[in-house]
Amino acid sequence: MCLLLCFLCVLLLYLFNEWSKTLRVNPSAFSSSRNVTILLWHHPFKTHVNLKGDVCWNLYRIPHCRLVDQRSMFSSADVVVFHNWELIYNSQKLPTDRPRPRGQRWAWMSFESPAHNGNLSQFANIFNMTISYRRDADITVPYGELLPKEDKKLLGEDNLQKKTSLVCWVVSNYRPHYKRSQVYTELNAIIPVKVYGRWKKTPLSSSALLPTISRCYFYLAFENSLFKDYITEKLWRNAYRGGAVPVVLGAPLNDYKAVAPPHSFIHVDEFASVRGMAKYLQELAEDKKRYAEYLAWKKHWKVKMGTDWRERLCKICPQFNSLPQHKVYSDLQAWDSAENTSA
Ligand SMILES: *[C@@H]1O[C@H](CO)[C@@H](O)[C@H](O)[C@H]1NC(C)=O
Ligand SMILES: *[C@@H]1O[C@H](CO)[C@@H](O)[C@H](O)[C@H]1NC(C)=O
Ligand SMILES: *[C@@H]1O[C@H](CO)[C@@H](O)[C@H](O)[C@H]1NC(C)=O
Repeated sequence: MCLLLCFLCVLLLYLFNEWSKTLRVNPSAFSSSRNVTILLWHHPFKTHVNLKGDVCWNLYRIPHCRLVDQRSMFSSADVVVFHNWELIYNSQKLPTDRPRPRGQRWAWMSFESPAHNGNLSQFANIFNMTISYRRDADITVPYGELLPKEDKKLLGEDNLQKKTSLVCWVVSNYRPHYKRSQVYTELNAIIPVKVYGRWKKTPLSSSALLPTISRCYFYLAFENSLFKDYITEKLWRNAYRGGAVPVVLGAPLNDYKAVAPPHSFIHVDEFASVRGMAKYLQELAEDKKRYAEYLAWKKHWKVKMGTDWRERLCKICPQFNSLPQHKVYSDLQAWDSAENTSA
């Protein structure tokens, strides 16, 4: 009798423990077990994005987020995502002839700068949300971001010994009228700039890119166009991962300050003249201690890239419930070409 009672107690305890475990693991399981369905209307740049399986959970631990690309799912999709490039070049059309299900949101997605987004005035009063690198988009996915580092290893000083070039630039698409070309020309007249890429007929394979940059003290992370928040892999991957200190030209200084570690980059606008900047770079490369201060952030932070289309889509889900109930971009062109308003 006593034995039986003991056994029952143990069983009860065990069951209770298992039950409470399920609660702990997923506290939201009871409130929002519904999947949010994201329909990708067409694949960006004709490259197929593999949406098979529960990609948001498997890759990013984002639950209840279903990515689909079957247009037959239109009527049950919570969000339909349209990549801008195909729309402006007329290879894809908006399904404006279909009745839009109540509550469905249409999302405009572009990671290009406004210089390459085309004329968006045709898209007035169509979209409910934006997906972009811009900090003021409904869904912001920057090209890169920082994550705190668990093992706080210091970067070895020996890295500096391997440096053979003062300033490097990788450029494929050289246009003389770009601001970046003018700054390069002026800089190169004062200090040597080693140029790689298709322009100088010295293209770098993707596996050679970062090792090459690592041998430079400074890397010109010059964007092709100057727009707010437009900060691309040139900073996050090429410079930061390559291990050169970035000299940046693109978004305003304050945009960089908002997302990049303090004292990790040099902005062209911080100098009254290119000559002044050239002098600064030279002095810095000769002063190991001061130069190393520009790499000190690496002890605490690591760079995470945000360039996977699946992540860009999955990121809608955690924010889905806090999107405004009703929102329409009545003038998308104006939104896209908005002036730099960051303080
Ligand atoms: C939610 O979506 C995932 C991934 O597609 C799927 O495996 C799961 O069965 C779905 N759950 C519900 C409740 O529909
Ligand atoms: C965009 O196109 C509209 C007509 O479709 C035109 O009125 C407008 O001037 C164009 N805007 C720009 C910036 O080219
Ligand atoms: C989305 O935009 C359409 C077109 O302007 C509008 O009719 C609809 O109410 C909007 N939906 C939401 C959820 O904001």
